[in-house]
Amino acid sequence: MREFVNPYGRVVVGPAESLFARAVRLIETEQLRKRTGSFTVALSGGSTPKDWFTWVVAHRAFSPEVLAAAHFTVSDERVVPLDSDDSNFGNARRVLLEPLKIPAARSHPWPVDLSPTEAAEAYAQTLTALTGPKESYGVCMLGMGEDTHTASFFPGSALLEDDGGVSFAAVNTPQRGWRLTITPTGLRTCGLIVVMALGAGKAQALRRVMIGEEEWSKVPSKILSTASDRVVWLVDELAASEL
Ligand code: 6PG
Repeated sequence: MREFVNPYGRVVVGPAESLFARAVRLIETEQLRKRTGSFTVALSGGSTPKDWFTWVVAHRAFSPEVLAAAHFTVSDERVVPLDSDDSNFGNARRVLLEPLKIPAARSHPWPVDLSPTEAAEAYAQTLTALTGPKESYGVCMLGMGEDTHTASFFPGSALLEDDGGVSFAAVNTPQRGWRLTITPTGLRTCGLIVVMALGAGKAQALRRVMIGEEEWSKVPSKILSTASDRVVWLVDELAASEL
């Protein structure tokens, strides 16, 4: 594995399994660092985390301390029922949390049965009760789409310009409908942000984020530069091939 630091955070490049193991170690290290409040891990949606979940379960990769204490949620969510294949938390629950027997008391889906705005407010209260007012998540895992979106910040998202200073929000996105998401403000109060991007399909996006000169309104993942002291990118050689 090789790694370097740039204005977007620490970039770790290596084979998928090494990156998967590194993600586990980052979570464990962050849990050890945690002093007050509950330790929260926000998982992400997409195919890459699903592969990681499967690997974590197969390798019994989480330490007993993480399994016994961590609270799990997702960094952003589609407003669909949890049993839908489109539900980020639903997928995390099916592939990771249920096999690991994480109890319901430490599983925190976004309350998708409420209206989106009420859901974001209720979720913010739940997270504040867990972590206190100064932290959004202990660890926030994110993916990145080929269009350079991360969390629910899509190109042109108003949240990139002004999120109102809140950590969690409901956003109505063109073509994608309502979504619930951590905000840029929320990202800046995470203990650690881990972005996983694997495969050749991410190469151009990663170049646009880390080398290109477009504004973050067009390349949303560039917003991570505002939290770069706490961002670790886990990318494979294919994704890093244009850096
Ligand atoms: C969503 C997904 C999405 C995902 C990226 C990367 O809610 O729409 O979570 O944002 O994180 O598209 O997905 P892959 O891991 O499948 O490349």
